[in-house]
Amino acid sequence: MTQAEQEITAAVRQRYGNIAEQVVAGNANTCCGGDVSLSGNTISTNLYQVDELEGLPLKATLASLGCGNPTALAALHPGEVVLDLGSGGGIDVLLSARRVGPTGLAYGLDMTDAMLELAHQNAAEAGVENVRWLKGDIANIPLPDNSVDVIISNCVINLAADKQPVFNEALRVLKPGGRFAVADVVIHGGLPAAFPDTNAFRRVSPRGRAALQAHSPMRSIARAWRRRASPRSS
Ligand SMILES: C[S@@+](CC[C@H](N)C(=O)[O-])C[C@H]1O[C@@H](n2cnc3c(N)ncnc32)[C@H](O)[C@@H]1O
Repeated sequence: MTQAEQEITAAVRQRYGNIAEQVVAGNANTCCGGDVSLSGNTISTNLYQVDELEGLPLKATLASLGCGNPTALAALHPGEVVLDLGSGGGIDVLLSARRVGPTGLAYGLDMTDAMLELAHQNAAEAGVENVRWLKGDIANIPLPDNSVDVIISNCVINLAADKQPVFNEALRVLKPGGRFAVADVVIHGGLPAAFPDTNAFRRVSPRGRAALQAHSPMRSIARAWRRRASPRSS
């Protein structure tokens, strides 16, 4: 990892670690390190149908930090294995676990200890057993090749310092015919002028900022696809 990539990863881990600690401590209204309030008008509000959230712990919904509802994009079937890249407090893993049922399994992968702790608590409180929490980086998924039916991700790939390895890894662990449902944000053109004013962004060096802006997801997926089809061509 380059220094710029390490800076981005460290800033992301610190930010989401702080959020998880605030939610666990019951301070959700003041969460997000002062940069963004979960209770305010952010892209993370109103993503789910009210009846979908029934029976989920309040802390799972308070720690919902996505920008879409990937489980609504992917048709999940009983018995399937699902992997959520950057699972946070676990809301999408818990929703997936319900849909794949007791014969299926939902994995949540996250790199932040406090988020994983929160996810463990939420699953226990919800009484959901067909889930597994994995600690690790989405650029180095701790699962074997061809082991997952569906990958979901909710507003996480944009946080990866280098996005190509994330797509390579996703295609490696997906079974042939597997599905990939992602909700995320992509910037066309430059970042908005106000963006560098956030604390997290100020901690990232100019090279890191350039890396954040230079991403074309469809090209990355195409490259990952070619790599899977012919590993020596990339
Ligand atoms: C924006 S939150 C989204 C959480 C969850 N998907 C949701 O919708 O509530 C980002 C999460 O991804 C995790 N994350 C960010 N970059 C990661 C990486 N490279 N590897 C693993 N987890 C990562 C963070 O720790 C955090 O929990």
